[in-house]
Amino acid sequence: MRLTIIGTGYVGIVSAACFSEFGHVVTCVDIDANRIAEYNAGHVPIFEPGLGDLINRNVKGDRLSFTTDLAEGVKDAEAVFIAVGTPSRRGDGHADLSYVFAAVRDLAKLVPEGCVIVNKSTVPVGTASEVEAILAEVVPGKTVHVVSNPEFLREGSAIEDFLRPDRVVVGVSSESARKVMAEIYRPLFLRETPILFTDCRTAEVIKYAANAFLSVKIAFINEIADLCETVGADVKGVAKGIGMDRRIGNKFLNPGPGYGGSCFPKDTLALLRTAEQANAKLRIVQATVDANDDRKKEMARRVIAACGGSVEGKTIGILGLTFKPNTDDMRDAPSLVVIPELQKAGAKVRAYDPEGRPAAEKMLPDVEFVSNAYQAVEDAAAVVLLTEWNEFRALNLDRVRGLLRNPLFIDLRNVYEPEDMARAGFHYISIGRSP
Ligand code: NAD
Ligand code: UGA
Repeated sequence: MRLTIIGTGYVGIVSAACFSEFGHVVTCVDIDANRIAEYNAGHVPIFEPGLGDLINRNVKGDRLSFTTDLAEGVKDAEAVFIAVGTPSRRGDGHADLSYVFAAVRDLAKLVPEGCVIVNKSTVPVGTASEVEAILAEVVPGKTVHVVSNPEFLREGSAIEDFLRPDRVVVGVSSESARKVMAEIYRPLFLRETPILFTDCRTAEVIKYAANAFLSVKIAFINEIADLCETVGADVKGVAKGIGMDRRIGNKFLNPGPGYGGSCFPKDTLALLRTAEQANAKLRIVQATVDANDDRKKEMARRVIAACGGSVEGKTIGILGLTFKPNTDDMRDAPSLVVIPELQKAGAKVRAYDPEGRPAAEKMLPDVEFVSNAYQAVEDAAAVVLLTEWNEFRALNLDRVRGLLRNPLFIDLRNVYEPEDMARAGFHYISIGRSP
C-alpha cells in the first residue's frame, strides 16, 4: 500500500520505518527542512536503538522516502498518518491541537478522493469529529475517511513495541476505512496481534486512559517506596510480591524520581482538562499529577539532606539526564527539576549523559557537562544516579569512591544493592529501602 506519514519525530519516523518494513511504500513529510535534509543524507536526527539500520534498509529497498513537499508526498496516498506533536497548551495545559489541525487543513485539498486520514498523534476525545468538520469546511463533498489509531510505543524500545505490540487500537466510522486499516496492519494480524476495532471516541479515550493508568501505577509505587523507607521494608520485594498477582502485573512498578517524558506529564494534564470540560471527576489522576510534581522537588531535598543539610558551594555529580535510558529525549525529565533545585540551594552541578547532552545543554544553564561518569564524580560531595543507563549499572565502584570527595552515592533508580554498596565503602541512599 502507499502510505504517507506527516511528522517525522519519534512516533512518525518509527511508524514510517516499521510500515515500510511491513512492505508498504511510505513517504514521510515534515515541515522541518533540516530534519528532512538529515534523513535524506542518511542521518537519523533522533537517538532510538535500531532505527538507523531499519531506515537504511527500507530506503535502499525504495520503500521509504522523505520530502518537505506535502503535495508530492500525499498525491497517491491510500492512507495519510498524522504524527505531529500535541504538546501542553500554554495557559491551561490542555493538548495543543494547532499542529494537527494545520496539517489537516494543508492536506485536505491534496489527498486523493477516498483517502483515509489516520490520527496517530495523542489527541483528546472528539478530535476525529473536529477533523471531519474541518474537512467538510475545506473540501465539502470530498470523500475522506477519518480514523483514530493511537500509538503505544515507548521511546528506547520503540521499534520492538511497534513491531510486537500488545494490541493495536483502531477507531473507525466506516467499513471502507476499517478494510484499509486491516490491510495496513495485516502483517501484525498474521502474527496474531490483537487488533481492537472500535469507534473514534473510544480509541481516543483508550490512549489517555492507558497513559494515565501507567502514571498512577508509578506514582503509587513511589508512595509505597516512601512508606517502606519509614517502616523498614524493601520496596523491591513489595513490588515483586504484588506484581506476582496477575491482576496487578509486574510492569511499571519501579520506583524512581517521578515519571517524566514527552507523554505522561502532558497527557495526564490534558486528560484532567477533558474531565473538567465534561464535568467528570478524575480525582485519582489529579492526585497522581500532584504527587509526581512534588516528588521531583522532593528528590532535590533528599540530596540536600544527605549532604548534611546544605549543598552550598559543593559539587554534585549527576549520572543521567534524559527522562529514561536509551533516548536523547529531555522533555519533562526529572533532571530538569532536580538540577535547578540543587543550583538554587548553591550547588555546582557536573553532569554526564550518554545521549542527552545536546538537548540538555539548551535546557540546563550553568551545568558543567562532561564526557563520562568518572569525570562527573571527580571531587564531588555526592553522586546522584538519575537515569538508569546500562553503562551506570557496571561502574568501577572503587574508582568512583576514590574520585569522590565524600563516598556518598544517591541512587534514585535502585540500580545497586545496599549490601554491595556498603561493602564497597559507600554511604548509599536509594529509593524505598533502608540504607
Ligand atoms: P515530535 O515533537 O518528536 O515530532 C513531531 C514532528 O512533527 C516534528 O518533526 C515537526 O516538525 C513535525 N510537524 C509539525 N507540524 C507539521 C506539519 N504541519 N507537517 C509536517 N510535519 C509537521 O513528536 P513525537 O514525540 O513523535 O509525538 C507525536 C505525537 O505522538 C504526539 O501526539 C505524542 O503525544 C504521540 N506519542 C508520542 C510517543 C513518544 O514516545 N514520543 C509515543 C506515543 C504517542
Ligand atoms: C510512555 C508509555 O509507556 C507508552 O506506552 C506511550 O506510547 C508513550 O508514553 C506515549 O504516549 O508517548 P515513554 O514515555 O516513552 O512511553 O516511556 P516509559 O517507559 O513509559 O517511561 C515514562 C516515565 O516513567 C519515565 O520517566 C520512566 O523513568 C518512568 N517510569 C517508568 C518509572 O519511574 N517507573 C517504571 O516502573 C516505569
